[in-house]
Amino acid sequence: MAIIYLDNAATSVPKAPGVGHAVAEVIDQLGASPGRGGHRLALEAGRLLLEIRESVADFIGSGDASRIVFTSGATEAINLALFGLLQPGDRVITSSMEHNAVLRPLHALQQRGIETVRVSADAVGRVSAEKIRAAAIQGPRRARMVVLTHAANVTGTIQPVEEVAEWCRREGILLLVDAAQSAGLLPINVETMGIDLLAVPGHKSLLGPSGTGFLYIRPGLQPTPLNYGGTGSDSASPLPPEELPERLESGTINLSGLAGLQAGLQYLQSRGLHEVRSHKTALLEMLLNGLKSLGGVRIYGPGEASGHAAAVSINLTGRDPAEVGFRLDTDYGICVRTGLHCAAEAHRTIGSFPDGTVRISPGLFNTAEDIENLLGALSEMSKNRTQVHLNPSVNAWSSM
Ligand code: ALA
Repeated sequence: MAIIYLDNAATSVPKAPGVGHAVAEVIDQLGASPGRGGHRLALEAGRLLLEIRESVADFIGSGDASRIVFTSGATEAINLALFGLLQPGDRVITSSMEHNAVLRPLHALQQRGIETVRVSADAVGRVSAEKIRAAAIQGPRRARMVVLTHAANVTGTIQPVEEVAEWCRREGILLLVDAAQSAGLLPINVETMGIDLLAVPGHKSLLGPSGTGFLYIRPGLQPTPLNYGGTGSDSASPLPPEELPERLESGTINLSGLAGLQAGLQYLQSRGLHEVRSHKTALLEMLLNGLKSLGGVRIYGPGEASGHAAAVSINLTGRDPAEVGFRLDTDYGICVRTGLHCAAEAHRTIGSFPDGTVRISPGLFNTAEDIENLLGALSEMSKNRTQVHLNPSVNAWSSM
C-alpha cells in the first residue's frame, strides 16, 4: 500500500531534495566544530556556520545575522525567549490557541512570580488583536510581553500578528511570535512586521532536519542564557560572553543539521514562497471543498483556505478521532495526527476537548491525488459506521 503522509504540521516528510546530502557532507567531509580551534577544518566549519546564519537572517528579513541564535527547535527557542527575558512581577499575555511549547514554560514561570493572562480565541480559533491589546494595557500593570502563535497548530488558523505587532511596538510591549506553523508558508519579515522575538523550527515547512531551529532576537534585547558552558570565546571568564550569538549558544552546535536546514531554505527559495503558498492553498481548497460536500464531517477552523496556514482539523460525526486516524493508517495508508496535538486549550476553545480531532496537514510534496484519496477514504468510512474497538495500545498511538 502506498503511504500518503498528511502530518506535515508535526514534521515535514519528505525533506527537500539535497537536505540529506548536505547533512551527510558535513558529517563525512567536514566534521569539525565551528569556533573551536584555529585549524583549517574548524575555520571552514565556522565559515559554513556564518553562511547558514546569514541565509536564515536574510530569509526572515533580519539585517543582522548575529541576532539569529540556533536552537534544537521552536520549543527551545521559546523557552530561551521566555526564561531569558521575563522577570518576577512581569505580566504576559497569550492566547488559548497556543501549543504546550508556550503554555508549559509560562506555567513553570508562574512559580517565579510571572503572571500569564490567556485571551480566549473565537470558535474558529481566531484571536482578536483588540482583545489581546485590552488585556495587555488594562489590568493591575501593563504587560511586558505578548506571546502569540502565527498559525495555530490544531486548526491552522492564521492569527493577526501584523496588527498585534504594530501596537505592541507603539506601546513598548515585547512580542514573541511562535512561527512553528508559519515559517516557510507565510511571508515573515521581522523588521517590517515589527517582531521582537521569532521562534522557528527547522524541520517543518523549512523542510530541514529535526533538531534544528532558531530564535531571532531584536537588537537591544539581551536574554540571559538557558544553558551555560563553553562558547569557544573568552574562555578564562566564568561568565558567558555578552555578544550574540555566542552568549546563547553554549556547547557544540548541530552543524550537520544546520547544513540540512540551509539546503531546505535554498530549495524553498528556488521554488519561491509564493509558489509554495499557492500550492498549499490549492490543496487546502480542494480538501475543504471536498470535506464540505461529504456528509457528517465537522470542520474546525475558518473553513476557507485563506484562513488556514496548512492544517485543518475535522471530526466524523459520532466517531472517535483516534479510531478514524487508526483506520486511515491501517486501511488506507494515510498518516494524520489525532488527539489533542499538545494543545488542550486550543481544543477546549474550538469545542473538541477531550477527544480532540483528526488533523490533516498537507505539505509541499503532497498532490491533488493524495487529497482525493483521503476524501475517498473519509467518504467510505462515514458510510461504513462500524466502529473498531481500540485496545489500550492502539489508544496510546493517538497522540495526546
Ligand atoms: N507541534 C507539532 C504538532 O502540532 C509536533 O504536531
